[in-house]
Amino acid sequence: MKRTKIKELLATAPTGQSVTVNGWIRSFRNSQFLSLNDGSTLQNLQAVVELNALDESTQKRLTTGACISVDGELIASLGKGQAVEVKVKSLEILGDCDPEAYPLQLKNRPSLEYLREIAHLRSRTNTFGAVMRVRHAMAFAVHKFFNDRGFSYIHTPIITGSDAEGAGAMFRVTTLDQANPPRDEQGHVNHKEDFFGRETNLTVSGQLEGETYALALGEIYTFGPTFRAENSNTTRHLAEFWMIEPEMAFYELKDNMQLAQDFLQYLVRYALDNCADDLEFLNKRALEEEQAKPQDQRSELSLLERLKFVAENDFQRLSYTEAIDVLKNSNPNKKKKFQYLIDSWGVDLQSEHERYLVEKHFKKPVILFDYPANIKSFYMRQNDDGKTVAAMDVLFPGIGEIIGGSQREERYDRILKRVNELNLPEKDLWWYLDLRKFGSAPHSGFGLGFERLILFVTGMTNIRDVIPFPRYPGNAEF
Ligand code: 4AD
Ligand code: MG
Repeated sequence: MKRTKIKELLATAPTGQSVTVNGWIRSFRNSQFLSLNDGSTLQNLQAVVELNALDESTQKRLTTGACISVDGELIASLGKGQAVEVKVKSLEILGDCDPEAYPLQLKNRPSLEYLREIAHLRSRTNTFGAVMRVRHAMAFAVHKFFNDRGFSYIHTPIITGSDAEGAGAMFRVTTLDQANPPRDEQGHVNHKEDFFGRETNLTVSGQLEGETYALALGEIYTFGPTFRAENSNTTRHLAEFWMIEPEMAFYELKDNMQLAQDFLQYLVRYALDNCADDLEFLNKRALEEEQAKPQDQRSELSLLERLKFVAENDFQRLSYTEAIDVLKNSNPNKKKKFQYLIDSWGVDLQSEHERYLVEKHFKKPVILFDYPANIKSFYMRQNDDGKTVAAMDVLFPGIGEIIGGSQREERYDRILKRVNELNLPEKDLWWYLDLRKFGSAPHSGFGLGFERLILFVTGMTNIRDVIPFPRYPGNAEF
């Protein structure tokens, strides 16, 4: 079908030329003014039907949500609010939409909670249109950033036999008969008879496999779905989320932190430069939502101000040890306002602490580094102090942790010792340990949670609203 997208028409000089537009009706006023949206842009196109040009039965079918194809002339708009409009010559209804049954009527703005239940239709709303166009732009920008810097995109496996990341509970992948699985002599389920001849899971991270290519191609990144079977019912966690994991040979922790900052600033700048009207809309939307909150919970900056601020200002770098000092002496700690009080070095930071550092104390993104070894993964490089590792987390306002990463332990003896201390399955990690035997090199990397980035850029507040079909405990509809 030949058609011109609305985004293009709105930027075209009107000379009465013939055009075809396809789209979904947002509203039909006064039996004359059709407001059409085709998803190419947030903006609607006005199509004007001459009075009495349509028979009554056709008019009745022009309901909100119906899909139509319009042939007409592109003319300068006579009304206010748009530069051009289409004077309808003929009109075809491609798909009717029963107004009694259609859940997205203009009158009552549906809640985000309700829209989650109709995730197959929420795509037709302004909010989800805007969020998903921004999401697309961010995915494209991720590839552009790395491609422009000579990184190779590596596709790491989704089904994996390595369960050594320790990042969280995993989803088992099996073809065994669940009701009656084969058993070995001790009565354990016999995974030798399973599809892959062993236990397998959905990946929690592509990092370990990514490292094998960093130590060959130099600089690589992954960008794919990851899965965590934690029972986390929060506005920041999904059971299925997308992660970007760059991994670089010859990078030390400092280089890693710089790349993380450059990357995030590039993405935010890209959104500002390329998604202006969607961000404008989301900015207004967020302001309206803020109005409903008590004064002291409102953020000081608007969405657009936050984005500009992050794009233009260096992130605060701070060691874990320094952060503990700040937190120990903070008002909420002294006044016992934190749910988890900070009393000693070595405790894991909760999101209340991370948000205090970012939102109250420094008022800018923070990169924390050199964490206690005991609260971080086995593969992180051990520092000379014997108690910390070269880890880093990037903390963002309103989000908390957006990136986690580290310099990797490249010394064979050190990592082997750590694997054994933690009782990790050395035999499953044979290939990972091999990397440290054959031409090992200093290297580093990190993981950016794609949906947390989209939360930040769109100003949405629940991670379930920035992915088309969210997966979380108790929900896998669609
Ligand atoms: O901190 P995480 O667990 O780190 C890793 O997986 C490392 N292998 C990354 C690396 O060094 N290559 O996860 C990285 C990021 C977090 O900072 C967060 O943004 C996001 O992934 N993330 C989640 N996002 C949504 N839902 C979840 N359940 C998430 N868990 C982590
Ligand atoms: Mg982490």
